[in-house]
Amino acid sequence: MAATKTAADYEAVAKDIVAILDRPGYDDGSIGPVLVRLAWHASGTYDRKSKTGGSDGATMRFKPEATDGANAGLEHARAFLEPIKAKHPWISYADLWTLAGVTAVEAMGGPKVPWTPGRTDKTEATVKATDIPPNGRLPDAAQGAPHIRDVFYRMGFTDREIVALLGAHSVGRCHTDRSGYSGPWTYTPTRFSNQYFKLLLSVKWVEKKWDGPKQFVDEDDELMMLPGDLAFILDGEFKKYVELYAKDKDAFYADFAAAFGKLLELGVKRGKTKL
Ligand code: HEM
Repeated sequence: MAATKTAADYEAVAKDIVAILDRPGYDDGSIGPVLVRLAWHASGTYDRKSKTGGSDGATMRFKPEATDGANAGLEHARAFLEPIKAKHPWISYADLWTLAGVTAVEAMGGPKVPWTPGRTDKTEATVKATDIPPNGRLPDAAQGAPHIRDVFYRMGFTDREIVALLGAHSVGRCHTDRSGYSGPWTYTPTRFSNQYFKLLLSVKWVEKKWDGPKQFVDEDDELMMLPGDLAFILDGEFKKYVELYAKDKDAFYADFAAAFGKLLELGVKRGKTKL
């Protein structure tokens, strides 16, 4: 059914996604950040050698991907999108989750990310165990540059693309009941910006004193960085790009749009019918 749809149909879905982004009482008042995270985690399981994982199939609805600790909290993101799916039942979950990510980025002030529909969903009846990526493919926030490179090189990204992608941490926050970490990366967690890079470089990050997992905070304990975020200033090759994006917002926006668009395409198999 989706094959007969036009660009205007997808624009109508995007418009309805924009309309549900503001949610007073939830986090910082927007569900945009958690939708960006859903699109990323749905896609970031891709392994280019075995050509498994990725957003196609919307396999996060099935175990063991659904119960991967790395995906804790994304059940909320998926539930937020259910009314959109109910209104536009023809769209696949795989397209809906990725479209929601790019729509949220743009609505929060970020760049327009290239996005193409055509993903299909696996169903309980059609899904095979080998269609569902194993746990452990998404990055572990407690680790440093070698681990980050392992994960993102497995998907086919360069150092520059990895740093650009991490700029998404300009929005959103960590939740103790999800990852165990706590707090936002920036003072404007519902506005997409290059603040993440500026703060990485300008703040004196100290280890947070608490009985939670090791993380870093500014001296007022208002902002946070994960050990995996600080890896981007401890590693010289990564730091070069952090410095570039802190200075040049346009370069960051252009590189983020290209890299996020590439991420959402990983492993997508399309039939002949395209928009
Ligand atoms: C080294 C790679 C990465 C690590 C270790 C990492 C880790 C994390 C962690 C621990 C959280 C907190 C989850 C929670 O408690 O709710 C988080 C949130 C988030 N991440 Fe990442 N992340 C990485 C890369 C990315 C990438 C590539 C993107 C998108 C392009 C992204 C987008 C987000 C967003 C938007 C949030 C906020 C979610 C919310 O507010 O609910 N992250 N990340």
